[in-house]
Amino acid sequence: MVRLSGDLDGPRVAVEDSLGRPNGGPARYPPNGEYSQPLLAGESDLDVRSKYQDLLPEHESPRASPGKLAIGFTVTMLVIALGMWVYQPKLHRRGQLAVDTGYVDQSAGVGRLPFMGYNTWNAYWCNINETVVLENARLMKSLGLKDVGYEYVGVDDCYSEKQRSSAGDIVANKERFPSGMKKLTDEIHSLGLKAGIYSDSGWFTCQLYPGSYGNEERDAKLFQEEWGFDLLKYDNCAIPFDSVMKEGMVGKFTRMAKALSDLSKKTGKPQMLFSLCQWGREEPWLWARRLGHSWRTTDDINASWGSITDLLNRNSFISWASDFFGHNDMDMLEVGNGDLTYDEAKSHFTAWALMKSPLVIGTHLQGASKETLEILKNKEIIAINQDPVVGPGITPFRWGINPDWTYNWTHPAQYWSGRSENGTVFMLVSVDRSSCHPLALFLSILPAT
Ligand code: GAL
Repeated sequence: MVRLSGDLDGPRVAVEDSLGRPNGGPARYPPNGEYSQPLLAGESDLDVRSKYQDLLPEHESPRASPGKLAIGFTVTMLVIALGMWVYQPKLHRRGQLAVDTGYVDQSAGVGRLPFMGYNTWNAYWCNINETVVLENARLMKSLGLKDVGYEYVGVDDCYSEKQRSSAGDIVANKERFPSGMKKLTDEIHSLGLKAGIYSDSGWFTCQLYPGSYGNEERDAKLFQEEWGFDLLKYDNCAIPFDSVMKEGMVGKFTRMAKALSDLSKKTGKPQMLFSLCQWGREEPWLWARRLGHSWRTTDDINASWGSITDLLNRNSFISWASDFFGHNDMDMLEVGNGDLTYDEAKSHFTAWALMKSPLVIGTHLQGASKETLEILKNKEIIAINQDPVVGPGITPFRWGINPDWTYNWTHPAQYWSGRSENGTVFMLVSVDRSSCHPLALFLSILPAT
């Protein structure tokens, strides 16, 4: 007898004895829907279906004989195949057989993997200038961070004048960036790195500098064509009321996605990496993949273990959303900042990497400790984040202290697993502070068989 985990539609019949008879008389329909379906030698699925039809509830009973079903099935498949064959060229011509990637052009490979880089916000907030940016860019190279994959050097909020020019353009702050943005990106590029800039999808940025709402095309051109940036982080402050936008949150971010896409089509240059920062307020993991390469899933991180467990907890429920060309952005790293202990910083970095978040350094690289650099340069962890073969990150399979699938910002899921090109990845997070155990995180990879 062959035992199969088969597929009768709807609730499943529990069959247990060796003759293939339902165990204990009439079949029951287990509430959990499990079943195993025995086939006797030479018996087809259809034979089994007809044998047990009396046990199936009324609405599930096969209405036709197995023979008729088989003929009906074959004819249906032939009709579908013929339809597809006839229709296929038209679909190809219209590009509809390709996966719908929206405004994201995947051809140049931009944003296929979680992006890695540096950003000024967590370390400097508004206290930025060209010296600070270039100093960190040079340190990325000299400290070996570039060599392990960190690529983008991002300027965050507060780089511009408070007013646009009379022509309507954003103007780089004359005191902080006296040499101008083109000079800055040229220097960054000459180090073999890429450059990132920041704007906002509303009227103003969060620190009240000009936002891009209504100026999307103009600003996209300024950022990429005139200033030479390669990445745009796009925030969500000071947004117009819906009665003004009349296109909602998705429409508002679509404006810039379209501007970046149109610009790239016009210039022939790869699209800027588009990093949406909507703080997870309207479930961007459901719609932002068609607009950009990553989307912030939460409010801002801070350099405390409570913030790390909070973000881990929130992201545990949407870990399925990251894959090639679209990643949950768990926010920039706090490794090297605040009062995070060595173990906490390691756990933070490992979780972000294995969950396929962008890895964006946010500390002062000048004076970064040996431990900070050791964490940021952990090649084995980075290799999982940058896996060229497996797109999705790890997901929780058990919570531990907290009951499974429940929300608890101090006690997020503790047992995680996922795939990598080299086998299975496990992540165990200790969140029990009361036991005085180090908040360490262990990882092991089993070779693929
Ligand atoms: C927040 C954003 C931060 C930072 C800040 C700048 O909305 O989440 O990462 O960019 O704005 O004002």
